[in-house]
Amino acid sequence: MICSTGHCFDLSKYGYIHLLPRPVKPAKYDKAMFESRHVICRSGFFSELVEQIRDIVRNGIGNTHKRINVLDAGCGEGSHLADLVKGLGLTDAEVLGVGMDISKYGIRIASREYPGLIWCVADLAQSPFMDQQFDVILNIFSPSNYSEFARMLHDDGVLIKIVPGRDYLKELRNIFYGQTDKQSYSNERVVTHFRQHFRLVDTRQIRYSRRLNPTDLKHLIYMTPLSWGTTEKNIQRVLQMGISSVTIDVTMVVGKKG
Ligand SMILES: C[S@@+](CC[C@H](N)C(=O)[O-])C[C@H]1O[C@@H](n2cnc3c(N)ncnc32)[C@H](O)[C@@H]1O
Repeated sequence: MICSTGHCFDLSKYGYIHLLPRPVKPAKYDKAMFESRHVICRSGFFSELVEQIRDIVRNGIGNTHKRINVLDAGCGEGSHLADLVKGLGLTDAEVLGVGMDISKYGIRIASREYPGLIWCVADLAQSPFMDQQFDVILNIFSPSNYSEFARMLHDDGVLIKIVPGRDYLKELRNIFYGQTDKQSYSNERVVTHFRQHFRLVDTRQIRYSRRLNPTDLKHLIYMTPLSWGTTEKNIQRVLQMGISSVTIDVTMVVGKKG
């Protein structure tokens, strides 16, 4: 690909495009974490969550006959976007999925596993997309840049943000952070910040539990930033005692411009 000022960008072997002006190494989001995230996503761990997103997208689409452009900003290893697009049951001419993440490790997995979509390594704070390109922007467990989201979103487009709820993975949180202030989490500040930039049109609390086998438990621990603040001793303790099921508790906030 060649930009209007003559810069040249090669597609990688798996077909993704690297659009960071200089390499960035986001702390701790390493290759192993994305591989673990991928195993957990493929196990259907987030399927209810993706179904709720799909419901919002379907309602938002209505009977429009134009192509729906969906951007996942901070897409990680890409499974949520790929599952969403696949489940919409639309043709390639009717929906286009684009995933952007600052980590090449996440984007490498995404482009290897889901070749039908567009994947790029880029910074969501300086997104490499023109104004008003997207009908839907997803922002799932990832940082936000609301001015960039507003710039890239069509005037009638929707921003769908997912943030952990108070009980998200509480079984792990209790063991890792019992008796400390990290044991409880509130997403109030994040939701308030969202509302300062976007008009809230829907909020959903999504809550369910998932059974875990020992292999999934290990991947769950290594995929979540929750494990970053705990000790290896605590991690080994959880792996030895096992946890048979965990709670998924998230808040979905849906906003429009204006
Ligand atoms: C907790 S992970 C969530 C990934 C994915 N949405 C999921 O739910 O599996 C947070 C993601 O945000 C990405 N990220 C952090 N800062 C970013 C930035 N400035 N631009 C793009 N992605 C970023 C990280 O690389 C990581 O993939």
